[in-house]
Amino acid sequence: MFDFKYFTPTKVIFGRNTESKVAELIKEFGGSKILIHYGSGSVVRSGLLKRVTDTLDGAGIKYVTLGGAVPNPHLSLVHEGIELCKKENVDFLLAVGGGSAIDSAKAIGYGVANEGEVWDFYDYKRQANACLPVGVILTLAATGSEMSDSSVITKEEGLVKRGYNSDLCRPKFAILDPELTMTLPDYQTACGCTDIMMHTMERYFTNGGNMEITDALAEGLLRTVKKNALILRDDPQNYDARAEVMWAGSLAHNGLTGCGSDGGDWMTHKLEHELGGLYDVAHGAGLAAIWGSWARYVYKDCLPRFKKFAVNVMDVEPEGTDEQIALKGIEAMEDFYRSINMPTNLRELGVEPTEEELIDMAHKCAVGVGGKKGSAKVLDEEAMLAIYRASI
Ligand code: NZQ
Ligand code: ZN
Repeated sequence: MFDFKYFTPTKVIFGRNTESKVAELIKEFGGSKILIHYGSGSVVRSGLLKRVTDTLDGAGIKYVTLGGAVPNPHLSLVHEGIELCKKENVDFLLAVGGGSAIDSAKAIGYGVANEGEVWDFYDYKRQANACLPVGVILTLAATGSEMSDSSVITKEEGLVKRGYNSDLCRPKFAILDPELTMTLPDYQTACGCTDIMMHTMERYFTNGGNMEITDALAEGLLRTVKKNALILRDDPQNYDARAEVMWAGSLAHNGLTGCGSDGGDWMTHKLEHELGGLYDVAHGAGLAAIWGSWARYVYKDCLPRFKKFAVNVMDVEPEGTDEQIALKGIEAMEDFYRSINMPTNLRELGVEPTEEELIDMAHKCAVGVGGKKGSAKVLDEEAMLAIYRASI
């Protein structure tokens, strides 16, 4: 068991119609001029944006709006947002949407609060000293960005997708109304469930440290999302299942399921980020497409955890050798992905990289992690390429 820091400063307001509390929350956290940042229009079509602006108008809170945060959000819009905030003297950012709108808002927050080029933080050139406060109304349970210290941005030039982590960007509040996720396409719901499970699995498959309580939380979360993902596949309007998944999404990435471990593995995410940068695929689907190849490459080096996962999460009978049990767990996870219409390889994901592109992704991935990374197994560039090749 390793020492750890657990820092979750985000005030969570959970339940039906909780978005009506947005004005009082903004006031509580000192916002006086707001940038409302959102995606490509789902919040306009659902009427949520209008409800939010009506609430702010009613409370006398001034705001400007900026839509257009696309999945795998772009640096150019972040620059636009920074300029707008400076011009309008914005002092609080309200992200209304999924992970992309939230991450874009966090990046804008860094850009306004620090001198110089904001990409420097994502390019590991320097650390931010501050971030404008961010509040969230979440419409997609997936990334956990509503409580996380992370922001992931794609620089269009060179298609480089990079994450930057700092406690400075953790949202001040997160409004979680499960009903807001009921307009999601089934594919995005499934992508979200995959991402939530992966955030816990990245922390679970480790060779360094563990805590019984953390493992129990992680396994309970994984079983809960697995069960409710299937309920939502058949009954997307099921409020209770939406609620379980939404809360799981926040808990999966606020640090809770990693307490006492060495920080986790994270290589499936790093490998996926290159796919997202190059092919603009949905993050959750990209994770599902790469996970099986990663798992088969590393499981022998992390056998006790893969066995535990197979038995405690995937309901595999503990019969046969540890390797056989671990492999059955990997197969069961892939079967689960298929059952919620997620891909289990790159072809099913809809991309067909050339050998040159695989080499390029492996190289960018290795550069992005500083050469080597992983805990279940430490991967170098050659290993990353082998996993990409196996995932075709
Ligand atoms: O853009 P709009 O029109 O809002 O549509 C979005 C988008 O097309 C749509 N959507 C969202 N809520 C909806 C809805 N459609 C109908 N009804 C609703 N209620 O769903 C699509 C996907 O949205 P997006 O925000 O891109 O998805 P997600 O939340 O999965 O975010 C993905 C991004 O977050 C990063 C990913 O890499 C990716 O760039 N991540 C961020 C993390 C973090 N900050 O902690 C951690 C993750 O591991 C991840 O890397
Ligand atoms: Zn993720």
